[in-house]
Amino acid sequence: MSKPNVFVTRIIPGPGLELIQDAAQIQVWPEELPPPYQVLMEKIQGLDGLLCLLTDQIDRNLIQSAGDSLKVISQMAVGYDNIDIEAATEFGIPVGHTPGVLTDATADFAWALLMAAARRIVEADQYTREGRWVTWGPTLLMGADVAGATLGIVGLGRIGQAVAKRASGFDMRILYHDPQRNQDLEEELGAAYVELDVLLNQSDFISIHTPLSEETVHLFSTDQFKQMKKSAILINSARGPIVDQKALYQALKTGEIAYAALDVTDPEPIPMDDPLLALDNIIIAPHIASSSLYARTKMANMATENLLAGLRGERLPNCANPEVYE
Ligand code: DGY
Repeated sequence: MSKPNVFVTRIIPGPGLELIQDAAQIQVWPEELPPPYQVLMEKIQGLDGLLCLLTDQIDRNLIQSAGDSLKVISQMAVGYDNIDIEAATEFGIPVGHTPGVLTDATADFAWALLMAAARRIVEADQYTREGRWVTWGPTLLMGADVAGATLGIVGLGRIGQAVAKRASGFDMRILYHDPQRNQDLEEELGAAYVELDVLLNQSDFISIHTPLSEETVHLFSTDQFKQMKKSAILINSARGPIVDQKALYQALKTGEIAYAALDVTDPEPIPMDDPLLALDNIIIAPHIASSSLYARTKMANMATENLLAGLRGERLPNCANPEVYE
């Protein structure tokens, strides 16, 4: 029997590619940049399995063009807003993703952004390198206090919870908002459930951990920034479009809020002429929150396991659309 055809849209870390090679006829996109949509369109014809990344647009048109052969789409990420899940389910295709293994890495990075913004670490490093450090100054690069401050977590899923755990070590008051209140977790994490406007009003730091959906696009825009403290620091390590970047620029420029630290932007990468890049009170990282050795290797391994299970016609160990099996 001939081996199934698989397309992997980037070189992934760990043993995944070799394992796939043992089981399938594999094509790997070798470039640093993702395959253009047109290439995906060509590759998907007659394909049995696709291993993709969040930079690949897997829309209805593409899924529809795949034909009957496509048995599995496996994404190397926990988020899957780049994939039309409804269309995949409609065409009977299970979609794999990688929850759990990047929780700590992402929470660590969100925490690093919070600390870096509060204590102006990126500015401080630039200051030193530019030769501007001439003496110890009484107010030099004075920042915000983290210990004892109020942290607002928007989205208390796995990563939001891991951020809350880190905050308790800093004696912070923890508020959260989530469409699903979870009273057991409140006790465990010492977090209080509040409506979003209360969280915006009372938090010194706000960290976003909600998935991107129709409901969360521009969840943070002009009105929300107006409700935040002028000293507030916003951290986004979830998805770029959750924050309205034009409104964020205005809020940072006019002092409506104090600082922002983003690991995600809209679009990605952020264009070099984006006005946000001209501001001093923002840190922007290139979507690397999950990029630790353990997390990225595990993500690749999980994506491989999902892909291989799908090719064998087995239930995916981590499926984003379990309703496909109903
Ligand atoms: C994910 O897995 O969704 C992350 O954004 C990857 O960094």
